[in-house]
Amino acid sequence: MIVTTKKLFEHAYGKYALGAYNINNLEQIEGLFRGNLQSQAPFIIQISKGARSYTNKLYLEALIRTADQIYPEAIFAVHLDHGDEATCYDCIESGFYSSVMIDGSMLPYEENVAVTKRVVEAAHAKGLVVEAELGQLGGVEEHIQVDESNAKLTDPKQARDFVERTGCDSLAVAIGTSHGAFKFSGTQSLHFDVLEQIQKELPGFPLVMHGSSSVPQEEVERINAAGGKLSGAKGVDATQFRKAATLGVTKINIDTDGRLVWTRVHREFFRDHPEKFDLRDPGKIFMVEYANFIAKKNEYLGSAGQLPEVRKFIGA
Ligand code: G3H
Ligand code: 13P
Ligand code: ZN
Repeated sequence: MIVTTKKLFEHAYGKYALGAYNINNLEQIEGLFRGNLQSQAPFIIQISKGARSYTNKLYLEALIRTADQIYPEAIFAVHLDHGDEATCYDCIESGFYSSVMIDGSMLPYEENVAVTKRVVEAAHAKGLVVEAELGQLGGVEEHIQVDESNAKLTDPKQARDFVERTGCDSLAVAIGTSHGAFKFSGTQSLHFDVLEQIQKELPGFPLVMHGSSSVPQEEVERINAAGGKLSGAKGVDATQFRKAATLGVTKINIDTDGRLVWTRVHREFFRDHPEKFDLRDPGKIFMVEYANFIAKKNEYLGSAGQLPEVRKFIGA
């Protein structure tokens, strides 16, 4: 059942965070639904601009609609990840999305306010909610590379001004995470002090953590042992998710970890079975492994086991 992100946030706030998982193909969608039902978790399925243009965005919409039919007990929201203004309008008009993200974080402050405000007006008119972003994460996204020295943590006072002026429904904050598999050149640092200040400025307001893959070292080692070259990859300590949730983080974005599962499964499969060439053989393994990965991640997020409560909460 597709619901609004807002409703999911209302239930989660202060208690747990929802996993927001990026998908690009059939196998990810199938694994995602299985994993969330396995762990009885509500979730957010998110589609990036890159995912929409990988083939045709209509494939992904059709696959998600079909998964909704196959798994009617699933409760989830559909979200545009890192949208620009035009893509936000396209998603708002499509009637399929629960929420959109307008990412004006690279723009000067006033321009970010202005574009976010325009998208909020268009989205609210159609009953959708909007995630905006303030501050800059390091790492790679949509082929834009931001090095750590240029990443800017969110200013708590500015965050309040931004939310008041734009009317956005949730805010992605930069508190030390970064996109991709190579986070933290030094030791890991989530700035909980900054998060606490943001929550004081915006009590009860849903916050979002991007760049939150944990880049499990076991995955990296297995990928490297099967011919990959990912030395130095590292990520966020997933045991910190619960603390972030108590400080107002209701949505935690995870993409890279799923890609690592895919890479490990396929590299190991073809290393161990050089004579095989049926794409469904590693595909079947991937769907099981991805489902297990999602179920485990939801334990860290605290969303595991929440599905019956959420069902009551939304009156389904
Ligand atoms: O933050 C970016 C997400 O990981 C989506 O990545 O733009 O390569 O689909 P993508
Ligand atoms: P990761 O690269 O850490 O998985 O972050 C994904 C993300 O923030 C998607 O918006
Ligand atoms: Zn992101």
